[in-house]
Amino acid sequence: MVRFTALAISTLSIGISDAAQTSCASDEVQFAEGCVSRTSAYQSAYDFLYSNLPSWDKTNKQSLGFHDSVTPDTDGLDDGIATLGLNISLDAQQKFSWAWDLPQDIYQEYVATYAHVNEARVDWRPIITTATSTILDNAPSTTDLSTVEDVVSYINSQMWHTETSGLINNVTFKSSQTPLIYDPMSTLVYGYASCTGVSILFADALKSVGIAARVSGTPAWNGAYENGNHNWIEVYLPETGEWAFMEAAPAGGGETLSNPCDKWFCSPTKMANGTQFFSSRFDSNSGVAYPMAWDLENLEVPGDDRTAYYQDACNKC
Ligand SMILES: *[C@@H]1O[C@H](CO)[C@@H](O)[C@H](O)[C@H]1NC(C)=O
Ligand SMILES: *[C@@H]1O[C@H](CO)[C@@H](O)[C@H](O)[C@H]1NC(C)=O
Ligand SMILES: *[C@@H]1O[C@H](CO)[C@@H](O)[C@H](O)[C@H]1NC(C)=O
Repeated sequence: MVRFTALAISTLSIGISDAAQTSCASDEVQFAEGCVSRTSAYQSAYDFLYSNLPSWDKTNKQSLGFHDSVTPDTDGLDDGIATLGLNISLDAQQKFSWAWDLPQDIYQEYVATYAHVNEARVDWRPIITTATSTILDNAPSTTDLSTVEDVVSYINSQMWHTETSGLINNVTFKSSQTPLIYDPMSTLVYGYASCTGVSILFADALKSVGIAARVSGTPAWNGAYENGNHNWIEVYLPETGEWAFMEAAPAGGGETLSNPCDKWFCSPTKMANGTQFFSSRFDSNSGVAYPMAWDLENLEVPGDDRTAYYQDACNKC
């Protein structure tokens, strides 16, 4: 974590390589395990995505960019959002010092991935990367961006307004939009989404700057579907190797990654009767399905069962 310290006292070019130095060569990418050649990092992320595609993406694999050849430099017709996104995610992995502490498997599953659940597959990464880069580049020099938590909360404070994001719309919360509006581009074009849509857009924004993020939630408060569902995001903290949670600002303001109890829903009442919690994954061998409240019979999105974590954390609030 020496790099974070160096960054904190630097002039704050925001984790960009002149502020903190990687010991990796320019054709290498740094992960927690050390330097990996960019070609090999691309190949192994490609293999991870390809071998875990849900059936609908398998059918569309060529459109997503999966061909027999894994050469990153192919002509335009061979590009797809998954493989182009992989390339852009490797740029972020090289650029942002906080990403260097990510284990390579965490990068592959939670940064390099092009989708969280079954949202429409769209080319969000170039446009969102431009927005988040603008946000970080324009950060006042007094902004503390020395830890992943700092960056997450700064991006959450800036990305929902056109003035600071440069995106086409302000994004606000509007209930009951899933599954009409929940892929990141629809959320931007409409300018609103409910919890799933703002969570996906927020998680994608974090992924665009090399922060591992995933969608989390419950399909049924207190185990009763009539009580409704909710989604938020989890962020991987390299300092502890743990996942912490919060909502996108349009859905819940003033929340932090460090205090579970600052969320309105993290309370013993909401945990009662065994409320279950899940986080979305991409690894099809996870052994758990992520329950999508809008598509409960669809068991193809892998998940993590996070019930024990939330029951423990929120029953203490
Ligand atoms: C992948 O990245 C390399 C290096 O940044 C670049 O030269 C190449 O054009 C990229 N390929 C695609 C398909 O984006
Ligand atoms: C976004 O919201 C701001 C106020 O926060 C407002 O001035 C601006 O016109 C809005 N932009 C759009 C595109 O609606
Ligand atoms: C828990 O379940 C019991 C029995 O069904 C019910 O009476 C009670 O209201 C439930 N509590 C909550 C918080 O939903």
